[in-house]
Amino acid sequence: MEELRIILEGERLEDKLLDFEINSTQALKQQPTHSVLLPGRNSKISFSESQIKFPKSGSLNQESQRAKALHFFANHELLALEIFANFYLKFLAPLPGKRKLKMHVLQTIKEEQRHLSLYIERMRQMGIDFGDYPLNDFFWRQFEKVKTIDTFFAAMSLTFESANLDFAFHYSNIFRSMGDTKSSEILDIVLKDELRHVKVGVNYLDEIRGGQTLWDFYSSKLPQNISPSRGKGQIYKKNLRSLAGLDDHFIGMQSKYKSDFQVLNRKTKKTNEETFHQL
Ligand SMILES: [Fe+2]
Ligand SMILES: [Fe+2]
Repeated sequence: MEELRIILEGERLEDKLLDFEINSTQALKQQPTHSVLLPGRNSKISFSESQIKFPKSGSLNQESQRAKALHFFANHELLALEIFANFYLKFLAPLPGKRKLKMHVLQTIKEEQRHLSLYIERMRQMGIDFGDYPLNDFFWRQFEKVKTIDTFFAAMSLTFESANLDFAFHYSNIFRSMGDTKSSEILDIVLKDELRHVKVGVNYLDEIRGGQTLWDFYSSKLPQNISPSRGKGQIYKKNLRSLAGLDDHFIGMQSKYKSDFQVLNRKTKKTNEETFHQL
């Protein structure tokens, strides 16, 4: 998939948003594995060491703060589509068959592109552009130690995208309560797509977990640097997990999960992304 390489390695925003067709014959063609250490980024969207704080909920009545929040969400979308493109080229492209899974992942990449575009369009209406605030590589770094397909889905779909169900629901409500229906509607679109993204991971892990519960299998696959507590937002929405196909046992275990990570982190310096994940 030449387009995926452009999305991953191209440096401009247009490269990241490159439209591509999902073609099952092409998807079934085996290709040599390919991956990059870092995605291509020009100076406007390059990774930055500078840290900015996610706006406090109380400040979201100001349009500038809502725009800044959207900038955080857009950063996550860009990272998601790059991580998925890298995953596809590295792990899925070399495999024979797996047509359904490949198609699902390609569809997911298109949807992450759509989310990014929607956020950028909305930010521009609010007077800022993507890249006006520093962009971090937090999520990219979380996937450096991911070595298998099952680990990838445990980390991506059942953890980060699972948390995003809570975040999208939460911020959609806040934005709507501030009278910002346009932003709220974008978050609703993201939420709807994210339910499917989580489901792709659930279906994959369900197929291979054998006699183990999904929770036990998931916990055994999750890379050590990623805590299951990252799979939750500020308010844990059980019904959204059910809609995403997670079973009641998994939901029960995830909802009550409290890790050493959370306890330890109260005493140590948190990065902004860590703060964001504990809002
Ligand atoms: Fe997304
Ligand atoms: Fe997603």
